[in-house]
Amino acid sequence: MTGLPDQLRRPVRGMRDWMPQQLYALRRMEEVLSSVAEQYGYRRVETPVVEHFEVLAKKAGQEVINEIYYFRDKAGRELGLRFDMTVPIARVLSYNLDLPRPVRWYYFSKVFRYDEPQHGRYREFFQFGVELIGSASPRADAEVIQLLAASLEAAGASKYVIRINDRRAVDKLLESLGALSHRDAVYRALDKKLKLPREEVIGIMTSGGVSRDAAEKIYDTASEMSLDEAVEVLRRLDGRLGEAYAKFVKYLEAAVPMERFKFDMSIVRGLDYYTGVVFEAFVGDYWLAVGGGGRYDDLLELYSGVKIPALGFAIGVERLMEAVGLQSVEKPLDYYIYIFDDDAYKHAVALANRLRKQGHSVVVELGEKNLKDVFEYVLKIGTRYLVLIGRKELEKGVVKIRDLQKREEVEVPLSALLS
Ligand code: HAM
Repeated sequence: MTGLPDQLRRPVRGMRDWMPQQLYALRRMEEVLSSVAEQYGYRRVETPVVEHFEVLAKKAGQEVINEIYYFRDKAGRELGLRFDMTVPIARVLSYNLDLPRPVRWYYFSKVFRYDEPQHGRYREFFQFGVELIGSASPRADAEVIQLLAASLEAAGASKYVIRINDRRAVDKLLESLGALSHRDAVYRALDKKLKLPREEVIGIMTSGGVSRDAAEKIYDTASEMSLDEAVEVLRRLDGRLGEAYAKFVKYLEAAVPMERFKFDMSIVRGLDYYTGVVFEAFVGDYWLAVGGGGRYDDLLELYSGVKIPALGFAIGVERLMEAVGLQSVEKPLDYYIYIFDDDAYKHAVALANRLRKQGHSVVVELGEKNLKDVFEYVLKIGTRYLVLIGRKELEKGVVKIRDLQKREEVEVPLSALLS
């Protein structure tokens, strides 16, 4: 058999096709997550997939910049595909400074990263997320994290944990150890703490210029603890930071059971724009972060010239769907109408239109299959009722309706169906 070679029959590396069953699962997830965001007063936005490269590259961090799909258009403009929605939304705000703040927006959108594809890591994927723009209050931090928890629950995640950190806490720790100038190496090392053995993580820090002693202290302080314990650690690092954190924890406690959270200094996040609280969500035994976010109080100023505090989160929708086991939704056909001869066609179409008006999905046989093949076909595609209109039935003014689930057949007057 000729035709395209197999490689060209498959989607481009790191991307996927969405067959109807998977697409319906995706749409269900979209409905569930959107309705949570709507309940919290967030409104949906969308932006172009293509962005000015300069906008994308401004504060992404080198690792993410390397992952941007970059190209020039025919007029020579430097463009790129968006790698998240936070950056495009920051751009939208920069020319909409008169919007009443805080702005509460959410999205369910495709983003692109030229990442190394593997299970759970794609080059084209969906993000559901929210951005709360124009508030520096710790209540805003608590609101966004509560909304993340509510989204995971609505999606069917019963077991999940949100690991929380604050970049300012890490910076204070580095300052106290005289290691602030090696911040990048420490962040890179902490980011790998859950994945690599101790020695390797410490090695990343020391080869970045951090002393062995400081690297070990950083590694050990960056262990997991409760949020209450974290308040004490933060108080010791910096009184004001500790007080602000205590407030945030109090607000969060009012909204979500505390066992959902862990304080974890190894959560520093890959994107460069974060300035304060950062967090990542893990669901059940799924090994990759399903969502992440944090505060980015300096990003909007880069685009608008005005300092506007903000925070948000994004969930990787494909990962969440896999973690909660929602990957396919069947949508059977309601009615398949089979006619035995051409004269019945107009009755079949009239009946189909009637049923469609009532909201049912209906297919009329195209005249290429015999009854045996039709039976096989309707079972394969998933069908509730097979309607048979034969000459004898038409003379009697009835049709046969076969319930393919119950395997029962009844005769119904056509006039009753059409009226
Ligand atoms: P992020 O952590 O880069 O954050 O991405 C958010 C989520 O997208 C991740 O937790 C993960 O589930 C999913 N994700 C990331 N990369 C991939 C990939 N290659 N394939 C599949 N899923 C992936 C952000 O994008 C920030 N904009 C979140 C945010 C919003 N921060 C503040 N506001």
